[in-house]
Amino acid sequence: MLKITVNAIFSCLKSIMDRDNKSILLRELLPIVQFLFKDRGEGSLLNEKLHSYIDGLISERNPLLTEMENYASVHNVPIMELSGIETMLQLLRIHRTERILEVGTAIGYSALRMADALPKAHIVTIERDVERLQLAEEFIQRSEHRNQITLIQGDALEVEDAVKEHASFDAIFIDAAKGQYKKFFEIYSKYLSDDGMIITDNVLFKGLVAEPEIETKRIRNLVKKIDEFNHWLMSHPGYHSVILPVGDGVAISKRRGESI
Ligand SMILES: C[S@@+](CC[C@H](N)C(=O)[O-])C[C@H]1O[C@@H](n2cnc3c(N)ncnc32)[C@H](O)[C@@H]1O
Repeated sequence: MLKITVNAIFSCLKSIMDRDNKSILLRELLPIVQFLFKDRGEGSLLNEKLHSYIDGLISERNPLLTEMENYASVHNVPIMELSGIETMLQLLRIHRTERILEVGTAIGYSALRMADALPKAHIVTIERDVERLQLAEEFIQRSEHRNQITLIQGDALEVEDAVKEHASFDAIFIDAAKGQYKKFFEIYSKYLSDDGMIITDNVLFKGLVAEPEIETKRIRNLVKKIDEFNHWLMSHPGYHSVILPVGDGVAISKRRGESI
């Protein structure tokens, strides 16, 4: 039934588009609608149901974190997806991580989640957007974790000197401009402790990495960069990596050849 309805929507959009070549809105809209519904039969409905079920089991966050989640949602600030962040926090707990570098603070949500989950941890986090960093500062000051987080303002490609004063790190979390992932990895992996891990978010980019055709040029270029990063990472001679299909896709990388 769902498939029939979706096919009807496709043909309707397509026929309007074919009739009116000037319909830019539809031309932009069609690939997105196609992606959202393409090949989504009962299997993926079940998948979505399971994801909602799992998300529904995750405990409520404290009032400050909930306020941040609401702020991010209302103001379109991208923060890590719930299942992705829960997975990352569990890994950090198991790993007993104490020193963390985060590339991409936004409003400080993931930094505060890490500080909350790991009371002994210290998080150094980099953000280039001054307004977002200011908000992060305000939220962090209102929390009980203000002493656990150090904010660095600047482009992560340019603040290596400031970051290395805090090295080394047991975990590095990369969650900034997706087109620069390889550079962030190359710059900051130098400061990873021997048994440390690197966590990279958004490596599946809403599933678009597996799409053979993407019509919008900007998205296509970005997907290409993420796909290149994924191939580079998965065949990196210095790291064992795995991509977990949770949240927006989370890669976990661990140096090869260490004792742990
Ligand atoms: C996805 S958001 C980070 C979300 C945050 N980690 C969380 O889950 O709460 C990415 C942030 O990285 C910042 N950013 C992007 N490229 C950057 C760069 N080269 N240096 C520093 N920050 C960057 C953006 O301004 C944005 O606020």
